[in-house]
Amino acid sequence: MALAHLPKRKFDVVIVGAGGSGMRASLQLARAGLNVAVLSKVFPTRSHTVAAQGGIGASLGNMSEDNWHFHFYDTVKGSDWLGDQDAIEFMCREAPKVVYELEHFGMPFDRNPDGTIYQRPFGGHTANYGEKPVQRACAAADRTGHAMLHTLYQQNVKARTNFFVEWMALDLIRDADGDVLGVTALEMETGEVHVLQAKCTLFATGGAGRIYAASTNAFINTGDGLGMAARAGVPLQDMEFWQFHPTGVHNAGVLLTEGCRGEGAILRNANGERFMERYAPTLKDLAPRDFVSRCMDQEIKEGRGCGPNKDYINLDMTHLGGETILKRLPSVYEIGHNFANVDITKEPIPVVPTIHYQMGGIPTNIHGQVVVPKGDKPNEVVNGFYAVGECSCVSVHGANRLGTNSLLDLLVFGRAAGNHIVASALASRNHKDLPADAADRSLERLARLEASTSGEYAQDVANDIRKTMQQHAGVFRTQAVMDEGVTKIAAIAERVKAIGLKDKSKVFNTARIEALEVDNLIEAAQATIVSAAARHESRGAHTVNDYGDTPQHPNGRNDEEWLKHTLWFSEGSRLQYKPVNLKPLSVDSVPPKVRSF
Ligand code: FUM
Repeated sequence: MALAHLPKRKFDVVIVGAGGSGMRASLQLARAGLNVAVLSKVFPTRSHTVAAQGGIGASLGNMSEDNWHFHFYDTVKGSDWLGDQDAIEFMCREAPKVVYELEHFGMPFDRNPDGTIYQRPFGGHTANYGEKPVQRACAAADRTGHAMLHTLYQQNVKARTNFFVEWMALDLIRDADGDVLGVTALEMETGEVHVLQAKCTLFATGGAGRIYAASTNAFINTGDGLGMAARAGVPLQDMEFWQFHPTGVHNAGVLLTEGCRGEGAILRNANGERFMERYAPTLKDLAPRDFVSRCMDQEIKEGRGCGPNKDYINLDMTHLGGETILKRLPSVYEIGHNFANVDITKEPIPVVPTIHYQMGGIPTNIHGQVVVPKGDKPNEVVNGFYAVGECSCVSVHGANRLGTNSLLDLLVFGRAAGNHIVASALASRNHKDLPADAADRSLERLARLEASTSGEYAQDVANDIRKTMQQHAGVFRTQAVMDEGVTKIAAIAERVKAIGLKDKSKVFNTARIEALEVDNLIEAAQATIVSAAARHESRGAHTVNDYGDTPQHPNGRNDEEWLKHTLWFSEGSRLQYKPVNLKPLSVDSVPPKVRSF
C-alpha cells in the first residue's frame, strides 16, 4: 500500500515512549497548549520506569550535608571521566528543582519527621568529594519509579496529552534534507499501519536491556528507538558501556534495589565475609555499581561464591529488622518470597550482577536535540528530532551510571527537551510535506514478513542474540571473546533478515510485533559488540582483562588514546569517534584521575 492510502494524523509533537522521560516531556508540552501524541507499546503506567526502586538523586541535603558540587563530582568520577561535564553540571544543578516540582505534582515521597523528603545513601554518592557516603536518593519506599510514573500520568491526563496505547512505532520519517517529520506506527489492536506526522519527534523509548539473557529489564525493552534511529542513519553513541546491577536475584534476574545496601544490607561471600571492605575500604558495599559487580564476580571466580555451585553472593539484610524492611523495602520483601522463596528478614538472599542499564544511546545535546557529526563538526543538530532518557546519550553517565541518576536524567532532560520545543514556537510553524517514500521502509519490513513461507521463529533468533551478548559482552571481557562475539552477531544479523512469520492474522498478533522487535534488538546488539571490541582499554563498565592495571594505565584506562566517545553507524557497521567535553558550564573541570573508593 502506498503512502497515499495510509491513515495519517498530524500533531505538533509525537513522542514515542510513555515512561518517565516521555511523560515528563509531554507534560511540559501539553501544559504549553501544544497538540502532543504519546505512543506506547504498553499502558503508560506499565512502562519500564515503573520498575525503578531506590530513588531519585538530588542534593536536597535533608538528612546529611550535601550540595550540587558534590553530586557533580561523584557523577564525573562515577562515569570514569567519559561523561560530558557540561551535561553533568546541568543535571546536578537542576536536580532539586525537578524533585520539588514532582513533589508539587503529588508524588508520594517518604517523609522525615520534620516533613521533608526522605533520602537514603546510594552507591558512589558521597559528601566532601569521596570522603563519606551521603543521603541523596529521594525515595518513595522501594517503589519510587512506580510512584513517579503514576504521578506523571495523572498530570498528563489533566493536561490533555493524547495517548496512543498499544501502538508500536516502526520507523522514523526523514526527508531529503535529513529533517525528521514523524514516525510510522502499527496499531496493535488492528494491525493497521499509520503515519503520525509531527513538527517535532521525540524518542523516549528506554533501553535495549533485552539484548542480554539475564536482565532486570522489562520484556518491552527491545531498543526500538535505537533501531529506528540506526536504520535512519543516526549513529549510536558509547554503546559498549552496559551496566551490571550488583543485586539481581540469582536465576530470576529481578532487581533488588541498591536501596537495600543504602539501608544497611551487606554483601557476603561463602565464608560469611563482608568482602567489600577489602576492595573499597571507604565506601564498602556502596561503591559504584561497575566496581561492586566486578568484586562480586571476582569472589565467585576465586571460589568464594555461595551455594552448592558456588555461583552467587548473599545479600544479608537480617540485621535491619522486620520493621525497617517492611517500611523501607516492602517490594524487596515480596520479591524475596516470590522469586527466591526467601524471608529476607530471617535469611540472606542469593544475588548476582545482572544487566540493568545502557549508558549509551542516541547522541543529544542538553536540550535533548539529536546531534550527529557533519564534516568537521561533531555535534550538528538533526532538525525536528529529540531523544531523552535511556535511549539517549547526552552524556551524563559516561562509562558507568550512578544509581538514582537515571530517574533524575528522565526528569531533567524530559523537562529540558519539552522547554526547548516550546521555546521554538512550534504553534506558528507549518508541517513540512512528507516525502513520497515516507512509509516505504516500514511497509517493506512488513511485506517481507507477510510474504514469508518459511524461516526461523523470531524468538529463536532473539534468544541467540541474548545468549551471544551474555557470553561475549559480560562483566569481564577479553579481546578474543569480544572479537568472536562480533563474528557471531554478524552471522545472526543475516538470520534476522530471513525470520519467518507463520501466523499472518492482524488483530493483536504478538508474533508480528516480536519479529519487528528483533530488527531493533539486532541493531543494539551490533552497536554494542562492535563498539566494545574496538575500545582497547578498560573504563567504567567496559572491563577487558587484556587491558589491566599498569603503572602507565592505572585500572587499564588509557586516556591518551581512549578519552573519546564512540559513534557506531549501522550502514557498514562503521565507527567514528568524537571528543568528551571536560568543560563544565560554570565551574572548574574535574580532571581525570585514578578511581578508588
Ligand atoms: O537499585 C536501584 O534501585 C536502581 C536504581 C537505578 O538504577 O538508578
